[in-house]
Amino acid sequence: MKGLILSGGKGTRLRPLTFTSAKQLVPVANKPVLFYGIEALVAAGVRDLGIVIGHTGDEIRAAVGDGSQWGAEVTYIPQDAPLGLAHAVKISRDFMADDPFVMYLGDNLVKDGITTFVDEFRSGSHNAQILLAKVANPQQFGVAELGPDGEVVRLEEKPAEPRSDLALVGVYLFDHNIFRAVDSISPSPRGELEITDAISWLIETNLAVRPHVIRGWWKDTGKVEDMLEANRIVLDTFTRNIEGETDSDSVFEGKVVLEPGAVVRKSVVRGPCIIGSGTLIESTFVGPYTAVQKDCRIAGCEIENSIVLEGSSLEAIPDRVEGSLIGRGVSIHRGTRLPKAYRFVVGDNSEVDIF
Ligand code: G1P
Repeated sequence: MKGLILSGGKGTRLRPLTFTSAKQLVPVANKPVLFYGIEALVAAGVRDLGIVIGHTGDEIRAAVGDGSQWGAEVTYIPQDAPLGLAHAVKISRDFMADDPFVMYLGDNLVKDGITTFVDEFRSGSHNAQILLAKVANPQQFGVAELGPDGEVVRLEEKPAEPRSDLALVGVYLFDHNIFRAVDSISPSPRGELEITDAISWLIETNLAVRPHVIRGWWKDTGKVEDMLEANRIVLDTFTRNIEGETDSDSVFEGKVVLEPGAVVRKSVVRGPCIIGSGTLIESTFVGPYTAVQKDCRIAGCEIENSIVLEGSSLEAIPDRVEGSLIGRGVSIHRGTRLPKAYRFVVGDNSEVDIF
């Protein structure tokens, strides 16, 4: 069995970060979202991986390489334009060579992994298998309607009036019939070839599509709030590990991960949180659910429930920083110049809230 990881797309809901960076590389608990997916596939015994890449392809290639760090073999499949998930399947046909495959959306996180789901497909004789999860906002997903015997009756992509609260998780299993399906459908109103329509074609053609409902958490990390939630959930699974440099004026409470090469002085660090190597935390309160990547500097601040990407600097911010996603190389600091004022140099589609 092969794996197909979708790692293209524009990531519009994560702008401005995605103007310069791939959404699949935004870190959750200091690890790119995409890496959780690769690990889940490898854990399920799927090592021959095709990764569909778009305009951020170079960055994805640089981060993932040939896959050997996971014991996998990676083939890159360039997609000229983000024309939909079913289009990504279409251009992967040569790579698949009629093998069954797992398709995994590179911005999805599935807590319990996908091993059970993949084993079920391996041991059965279905043409496709879909993963479903109950959600509060089905309008924002592909939605499945199940019949009295638990069979899939209908699938709809982002319906205004959903017939159920069962969303399609971004992990799918297919045999070669999916290639006939993607050739038979037309673009949706949003101009994309939808995988939901391709699976509906399989159902209408009387091929066997089996649903599997998961109970554990799952996140599509398309939006900032979802990134922060995924960060909280993953940080909660950590165990305390303080390897960096500390002083006697600092206090560490709970599940704190201080990577080797991180430095904490005169600070209170309350987990669950992670602080990356080369980062300096000084005279600062780092609160729960915070992930600070490498080579940052945070001084004279209070920060919690936030993600800070590498090389950023936060200094003497008067109020607590909360619920924030701060990109790479960002500088936020308080100066002493008069008149007192806010001064912003922020990129397109940035968001600044002062409460
Ligand atoms: C895509 C699929 C949708 C699925 C979702 C899961 O949506 O089209 O059916 O529920 O992924 O993450 P998109 O993220 O492209 O809006």
